[in-house]
Amino acid sequence: MLGSGDGPGVGGPDAGPVSVRVGMVGDASAAALLHGQLISEGFLSSLGSRFLRRLYRRIACASGSFLLIAEGGGSTIGFIAGSVDVGHLYRSFLLRDGVAAGLSAPVRLVSALPRVLETLNHGRGGDGPAGGELLAVAVDPSWRGRHVGGRLVEGFLGELERRDLHAAHVVVGADNATAIAMYRRSGFSPTRSLEMHRGTRSVLMETVVPSRAMPDAGPGS
Ligand SMILES: CC(C)(COP(=O)(O)OP(=O)(O)OC[C@H]1O[C@@H](n2cnc3c(N)ncnc32)[C@H](O)[C@@H]1OP(=O)(O)O)[C@@H](O)C(=O)NCCC(=O)NCCS
Repeated sequence: MLGSGDGPGVGGPDAGPVSVRVGMVGDASAAALLHGQLISEGFLSSLGSRFLRRLYRRIACASGSFLLIAEGGGSTIGFIAGSVDVGHLYRSFLLRDGVAAGLSAPVRLVSALPRVLETLNHGRGGDGPAGGELLAVAVDPSWRGRHVGGRLVEGFLGELERRDLHAAHVVVGADNATAIAMYRRSGFSPTRSLEMHRGTRSVLMETVVPSRAMPDAGPGS
């Protein structure tokens, strides 16, 4: 367990406390469901729930990658995925899940292939951003605005610190003002604008670890 809170802004008398814990392989379905329903940017959602389930299973068990789960009211209300070695994650996904994942979404995968290759290519070479990468985060709409997202980002940064990493980055859609505001609140700053997928503007945001999160960023900060 990474922490739990029941102070102002997290949970509340009617919602109950929220806790954040490390996700296991058995949490992959819940993370895939939230990703498919709530994350429209990027192309992964278009590959379907079985593909996402395999991907999150791999994230939960590949060395150097991790999944954190937020729970409230007895169910999974959010997740965050991170990696300190995205190259290893993608290689192990391709090697161990590639065929099955391809079979679960053959037509969609072929049409998404250019964006898959752009993603695999992202961060390659020595000039990529340093440190751990925040891969995805989502919070159930009925739990938003209570610092659950902030708590998950805080958990992600804590995992990096535990692994002795000193920097973190995230690529976020330039039009995702809510996520950009949340990352800023957790200490990230925009460092570069980029076009990871042709025609889609993204922003690279980076922070040092431990981050200089803004004060009062919620309980546990
Ligand atoms: C982005 C997301 C995870 C935020 O979750 P959340 O639990 O509502 O976020 P928090 O309550 O922790 O908010 C943290 C900070 O983000 C900012 N923020 C949150 N919601 C905001 C909104 N609707 N408008 C502007 N800023 C907002 C605020 O600065 C807030 O801090 P404050 O309340 O102290 O001012 C959630 O909106 C979500 O799941 N979005 C869809 C998925 C997504 O876009 N993921 C990111 C790309 S992978």
